[in-house]
Amino acid sequence: MASSSSSSSKVTLKSCYSVRPMELTWCGRLPLSEWDQIGIITHVPTIYFYQPPQNWLTPSTKIATTLKTSLSKVLVPFYPLAGRLQWKENGRFDIECNALGVQFIEAQSSLELSELGDFSPTSEYYPYLIPHVDYTLPIQDIPLVMVQLTHFKCGGISISLLVSHAAADGQSSLHFSNEWARLARGEPLKMAPFLDRNVLPSKKYCNTVVNEWEFNQQPPLLLGNSDNFEERKKKTTVAILKVSKTQAEKLKKTANESWGEPSNGRGYTRYETLTGHIWRSACKARGHGNDQPTGLGVCVDWRSRVEPNLPKGYFGNATLDVVATSLSGDLMSKPLGYASSRIREAIEKVNDEYVRLWFEYYKKQEDFTKFQDLREILGSDEKGPFYGNPNLGVVSWLTLPIYGLDFGWGKEVYMGPGTHDMDGDSLLLPSHEDDGLLVAICLQEVHMDEFKRHFYEDIV
Ligand code: COA
Repeated sequence: MASSSSSSSKVTLKSCYSVRPMELTWCGRLPLSEWDQIGIITHVPTIYFYQPPQNWLTPSTKIATTLKTSLSKVLVPFYPLAGRLQWKENGRFDIECNALGVQFIEAQSSLELSELGDFSPTSEYYPYLIPHVDYTLPIQDIPLVMVQLTHFKCGGISISLLVSHAAADGQSSLHFSNEWARLARGEPLKMAPFLDRNVLPSKKYCNTVVNEWEFNQQPPLLLGNSDNFEERKKKTTVAILKVSKTQAEKLKKTANESWGEPSNGRGYTRYETLTGHIWRSACKARGHGNDQPTGLGVCVDWRSRVEPNLPKGYFGNATLDVVATSLSGDLMSKPLGYASSRIREAIEKVNDEYVRLWFEYYKKQEDFTKFQDLREILGSDEKGPFYGNPNLGVVSWLTLPIYGLDFGWGKEVYMGPGTHDMDGDSLLLPSHEDDGLLVAICLQEVHMDEFKRHFYEDIV
């Protein structure tokens, strides 16, 4: 943990343990699927804040002991998470299931929880509440899961969790944390992780000819630019924007009434309408010309889009990014429903056939590094997918079980994503406080004020 700034001096590292599975677990190489080895392969942070009741605060070791013991138990069924990645050739890797364990850090803060304001990820304290992953270390030395328990002066605590995206996507990562919490509460495991990748549709015969063009498409560049290196370097900032239930319904109504009948006769969803609105507002804030092509990356979970569906509890990565495209001018001048229809069209491509085509495509690739987001590992910003200006990436957590992670001392008072600092990275979450929604968005600093203005003014 860094220690130079005043923020860091308010959080002191107390101890750091390796928590290993409580029983002997299978040892050996767990082959990963293509989906585990592409996109983000670094760790994804989340953070939960709690105000435990008095009976949990004494003895002072009770909370840490509960967390460590239940973590050790849950690592028995979720044993791959106690292992390490091992590179193979051409950017491919497996998990070496060696029970080396996950990292558990305990820290003390001299602050009260109330001093953290609204807990938003813009907080200067986040870097000291979430473990830092040292990607200069060999990959086989980096735990797949890292946890930091921080005690605050008022008795409040935060639990931050970093899970390697190579081991688990959002759905699987939440499966793990929810089972961990169940065991901590003294309840039995609800659903064991399903680890066998033989169920993946790659094992099925696919006789469709792959259209290479579809697979090699990159999100558009700013007009006049031949790469996105300069855009990647621009200073960014994060905002959390609240959208009330009424505002979300209004956007949904506007989209559904403004642009013909959505395909399947199923009205545009909150995701499709709010994301369409974000996309239009970003084009306006960035000052795009009418001819500027723009792409919107959507992360689609395909567990229930393949035939047969993946088994319940499938543990790993089963998501795919698709890109909706448009001209900025069309987005800005046509009604909101147009943007939603572009997004719907992109999502609807993801069916059994489409997923298998991607499998075929990936299997034929010699070098996987070109599909991997290696920013943090290489310390370089020039590789990997980039959804910054003129594009956006909007990930949905709307239907994921992100709230109510109760380890025995009650539900969290706040849960949020960790920091994210890449232009265009956005996340939709349900609000923790009411039935509204939250948009966590990162944009270039110079665009944020205009974005907020368009975002709220255009809802009315
Ligand atoms: N909770 C609440 N509503 C649900 C639901 C659930 N678990 N499951 C389905 N619904 C209903 C709701 O009515 C919702 O419509 P509404 O938002 O307008 O009320 C609708 O079905 C949502 O259906 P969904 O198929 O999820 O469509 P979407 O447009 O909201 O989202 C995707 C599209 C592609 C984002 C979504 O299908 C998906 O794949 N989400 C997972 C993303 C993910 O894995 N994120 C983590 C990445 S690591």
